[in-house]
Amino acid sequence: MKKEVLKLENACKIYVMGKGIEVRALSSAYLTVYENEFLCVLGPSGSGKSTLLHMIGLLDRPTEGKVYIDGKDTSKMTSEEQAKVRGKKIGFVFQTFNLVPSLKAWENVALPLVIQGVGAAERKRRATKILTDLGMGDRLNHYPSQLSGGERQRVAIGRALANEPRVVLADEPTGNLDSKTGKGVLEIFHKLHKEGRTIIIITHDESITDVAQRIVRIHDGTLNDKKKGKKNKLVSKKVGVSK
Ligand SMILES: Nc1ncnc2c1ncn2[C@@H]1O[C@H](COP(=O)(O)OP(=O)(O)OP(=O)(O)O)[C@@H](O)[C@H]1O
Ligand SMILES: [Mg+2]
Repeated sequence: MKKEVLKLENACKIYVMGKGIEVRALSSAYLTVYENEFLCVLGPSGSGKSTLLHMIGLLDRPTEGKVYIDGKDTSKMTSEEQAKVRGKKIGFVFQTFNLVPSLKAWENVALPLVIQGVGAAERKRRATKILTDLGMGDRLNHYPSQLSGGERQRVAIGRALANEPRVVLADEPTGNLDSKTGKGVLEIFHKLHKEGRTIIIITHDESITDVAQRIVRIHDGTLNDKKKGKKNKLVSKKVGVSK
């Protein structure tokens, strides 16, 4: 049987605003992700995709419900324990890249390694290798403002890979890119999947779903990958980007 790497059980997220106003961004969300899956969570703007990513990536806690990573209930962990799990197992590619403007491309990639206490020379060696593998070997010393959108996205992917995570979570990874550059970025995810990683892409873009093995739909904060219905359709596909 395939190993469960990540499970969301009856998760709900309510953001509390000022004056007692509450926003229910996620309600009763169920999702199980298996090892080396390539999953795409598809939903329109405001449907709760980034909120979902924050929950499954342990960046925030659900108001109710549970998140399991490798079978472990993370709700029982302290924030420090969660941070350790996150740092070791999960790589993030954020919707808005979140690169540090004052750091060079390789320094941005090496940043998670600073937090992990990896020495300076080893950080540079690893970041150089990652960026070279992503076709960015001649852009190592560029600052984010000196890079194109596609190049910045590759630096963001490189940073997600720095700690050699088994799971990569990407929020709209092609959202700011033209279709050709976006296709190149998807090729990278395809390659990472072939290398054995679990890939979860969160997007509103139907065309991205071509690369995914499985698609789960999120709508008004609701997703349930167990039910086959109009709202949460499960589609199995063959993997493959290159045509
Ligand atoms: N920190 C927050 N405080 C209050 N409301 C929030 C917060 N974050 C998100 N929301 C609300 O929750 C809902 C879901 O937001 P979320 O960012 O998860 O959507 P999304 O599917 O990622 O949208 P997009 O495709 O535009 O990125 C939205 O209505 C949003 O306004
Ligand atoms: Mg979002």
